[in-house]
Amino acid sequence: MPARWIDGREVAACVRRAVGAAAARFSERTGRAPGLEVVLVGDDPASHLYVRNKERAAVECGIRGHVHRLAATSTQDEVRTLVARLGERDDVDGILVQLPLPSGIDARAVLDAIDPERDVDGLHPVNAGRLASGRPGLRPCTPAGCMRLLDAVGFDVRGRHALVVGRSALVGKPVALMLLERDATVTIAHSRSTDLESLCKRADVLVVAVGRPGLVRGSWIRPGAVVLDVGTTRGADGKLRGDVDPSAAEHAAWMTPVPGGVGPMTVAMLLANTIEAAYRRAGLEPPTC
Ligand code: GUN
Repeated sequence: MPARWIDGREVAACVRRAVGAAAARFSERTGRAPGLEVVLVGDDPASHLYVRNKERAAVECGIRGHVHRLAATSTQDEVRTLVARLGERDDVDGILVQLPLPSGIDARAVLDAIDPERDVDGLHPVNAGRLASGRPGLRPCTPAGCMRLLDAVGFDVRGRHALVVGRSALVGKPVALMLLERDATVTIAHSRSTDLESLCKRADVLVVAVGRPGLVRGSWIRPGAVVLDVGTTRGADGKLRGDVDPSAAEHAAWMTPVPGGVGPMTVAMLLANTIEAAYRRAGLEPPTC
């Protein structure tokens, strides 16, 4: 069965329209726009690009966005203090610290300083614990985007084999838990796993988040599977490549392209999380975005 490509840009645009309507209603009811503060430390060009995209997307949806750009020489205490102060402001609903942080700053120590109720990246241990223990909370954006793409193609994971390749705190672990929350039978593979090929061959849903272009071969895909490729590695030719060989499209029922698949969903779900945090902080029932 040939793949139909999942258009992440289209699904993300739909989420952003819902965010725009929710932000307008929030402003009417509370007299202020939802606020998102992004902390960017250092000079990593890719991080600067991602953060510009987040700021632009927020403002387009009626969210007040502000970026704090800190020098690479900033100390861990300076970053922690900024993050803690943002968590004391009434007009701040979402706080995001762009990763990676410069070497010498312990990302975990910084993430710990974020107020969990404004942790729109879902990376604070309180939100990670809420996810692991099946309680409501802010969920990490890329995994939430993956789940939204499964919804968009109408794929019910209940009872199906899901394979997650990658075990990062940002994507692999949370997406595995979110699949489990929906009753999938979940396997997590990683760099020490043996026989990735046979694990892939029995997966009905495959989420690959490693950052090794072409790691998963097309012939490893079970016919009719749904393939979500989170990898984005820029090659010497300047083109982005995913972790799954594009020939997988010949076997999958649905597959995300790179670029234009999972990537746009990360920003859209960040905005949706900001809406959720804003409504909850104001004592309002959050709408579904
Ligand atoms: N760096 C790459 N992806 C992400 C993300 O989703 N959140 C943060 N904070 N940093 C990132």
